[in-house]
Amino acid sequence: MADRYLRFTGTAPGRFLTRRLGLPQPAPLHRWSPQRPSLDGDLLHLTAGRSDLDLAPVLSRTGLGTGGERPAAVVLDATGVRDVDGLAGVHAALHPVVRSVANSGRIVVLGSPLDPADHHQAAVQQALEGFVRSLGKEIGRGRTVNLVRLAADAGAAESTLRFLLSPRSAYVSGQVIEVGAAGQGSGVDWERPLAGRTALVTGGARGIGEAVAEALARDGARVVVLDTPQAVDDARRVAEHLGGSVLALDITTEDAGERIAAELPDGLDVLIHNAGITRDRRLVNMPTERWSSVLDVNLASVLRTTDALLKAGTLKRGGRIVATASIAGLAGNAGQTNYGASKAGVVGLVRSLAPRALAEHGVTVNAVAPGFIETKMTAAVPLLIREAGRRMNSLAQGGLPADVAETTAWLAHPASGAVNGQVVRVCGQSLLGA
Ligand code: NAI
Repeated sequence: MADRYLRFTGTAPGRFLTRRLGLPQPAPLHRWSPQRPSLDGDLLHLTAGRSDLDLAPVLSRTGLGTGGERPAAVVLDATGVRDVDGLAGVHAALHPVVRSVANSGRIVVLGSPLDPADHHQAAVQQALEGFVRSLGKEIGRGRTVNLVRLAADAGAAESTLRFLLSPRSAYVSGQVIEVGAAGQGSGVDWERPLAGRTALVTGGARGIGEAVAEALARDGARVVVLDTPQAVDDARRVAEHLGGSVLALDITTEDAGERIAAELPDGLDVLIHNAGITRDRRLVNMPTERWSSVLDVNLASVLRTTDALLKAGTLKRGGRIVATASIAGLAGNAGQTNYGASKAGVVGLVRSLAPRALAEHGVTVNAVAPGFIETKMTAAVPLLIREAGRRMNSLAQGGLPADVAETTAWLAHPASGAVNGQVVRVCGQSLLGA
């Protein structure tokens, strides 16, 4: 599983050689750890044109200092840009500072929703998307660039800004995240935001699901690790380590939702649909069984359990659903018509259900779409394909389960109520489907 190339390019001769040969230059990423929970450097707050947004209070609570020579985080407020002249302000603001942004630094551009009544505003706000995605591809040195489209006041985006301006978002780049108007609620405990809450993670016995369970437990949640009866030993190991509990259940069981509801009489705050399988074959060679098993685990069971838990009222108001899509569901992948269909289905589910679930149940529905993540699943991929998967993204390396877990934890956060119906790729800005 080890990325030897990344280790090699971290040495002086490795760096010299790969640069001379024009090979990818992955930088070691600064990820969250209790020892290094914040970015190493200051925050620079810039504005393009005129803006009415009161960002300063939110930014001051990120804990990042201001005024340094080498900012680790740059926030550009471009919410007020309404015409092409205004876009010049984006260039003028970032052109002089981009070189000085620290390694593993962050650039976050804030934009506004596209105005259907003003095609000039819509054009330049959409232009920000192309700008951010292009800068993400050229900036290098483990630095990321993301766009947040803000429909309301800055307070609604606090959890999102804290996430994007921290080491937790190390593998999230080139993303456009829409933040709506819902309030964040007062009295958020930013250290243990999920204290007193219950989270259920399907497929939590290993891989990405295990990392998600760990992150949610770290954030204070009581975690229920759901996995198949065959994986019960691993599930128990994870649950014991986190002080949680186990639910041995095949998620494709017809009444899985009802069984979960019966298991959680006090209700559920966070539902993570992570269980997933692959059964790759090109369509010409794909037997019905391979098609249906993937659709059943990855999509039908997600639909069934979601419906059952909303209907039973198990998911509490203020609850969160995070489903796991994949870049294969966005870009398509040869040999994965079944998997790509199932993961695209998850995206459709999220986009359709999100507004209704929020209006009717007070529950947000979002998806994470991982790219190449270093797990047992991807370690089994043949070397050349694995190398291509790892390098074909702006950060030139694979992600870790923890990267998906941190993104999930942000979406599950009680203060993320204004983030709804989003599909956030955790892919280092993969070139696939970009
Ligand atoms: P994994 O194979 O390591 O873990 C999946 C877990 O789900 C296992 O513990 C398995 O027992 C459980 N599971 C499978 N079928 C189940 C069922 N019917 N009922 C209950 N549990 C079941 O997979 P990994 O890599 O951790 O992936 C997790 C999720 O992330 C999946 O949805 C996968 O499609 C998605 N994903 C993974 C990527 C990667 O690069 N590893 C990339 C994109 C998406």
